[in-house]
Amino acid sequence: MIKPKNLLCAAVLLTLPAFASQALAGDVSFSRGYTFEERDGKSIYENVCQGCHMADAKGATGAGRYPALAENPRLAGKMYPAILVLKGQGAMPVFGDVMDDEQIANVVNYVRSQFGNAYTDKLTPAEIAALRPPKKP
Ligand code: HEC
Repeated sequence: MIKPKNLLCAAVLLTLPAFASQALAGDVSFSRGYTFEERDGKSIYENVCQGCHMADAKGATGAGRYPALAENPRLAGKMYPAILVLKGQGAMPVFGDVMDDEQIANVVNYVRSQFGNAYTDKLTPAEIAALRPPKKP
């Protein structure tokens, strides 16, 4: 016979993984429906990214590790930063839900051409759109 107390325990255990995965997905997440208004890469960087990656894009270590984007050879391929901004990774937030394709392309093009990075091939909004899951009909 299952007692109500045991049922409560089971309920707590069942909901735990959901909380744990939320915590692992990063410290920063945005409420549903929230969007950023900034459009150009510089404003997006200054209002959104520099809080973690710093104004000089040299990153920071302290409570967490925020990698430098300045002089970063990992930005040589445009799809790597594109996927990171779109989908997040570790403590890097997911921006795919709060920015449109053009905003993501603009901020990626900005960091790849500033802070000692001089990659000239541009990421297009269409390339971001192609990375998103297909829309339900
Ligand atoms: C809440 C803090 C935070 C914000 C805001 C943030 N990032 Fe990050 N970012 C991180 C962390 C932490 C990592 C390292 C992720 C990992 O691999 O664990 C990271 C990694 C990256 C990387 C990969 C760097 C490398 O060397 O692999 C890129 C590119 C990047 N961020 C770009 C951006 C851009 C562009 C923005 C603004 C749209 C942004 N980030 C906003 C925390 C943040």
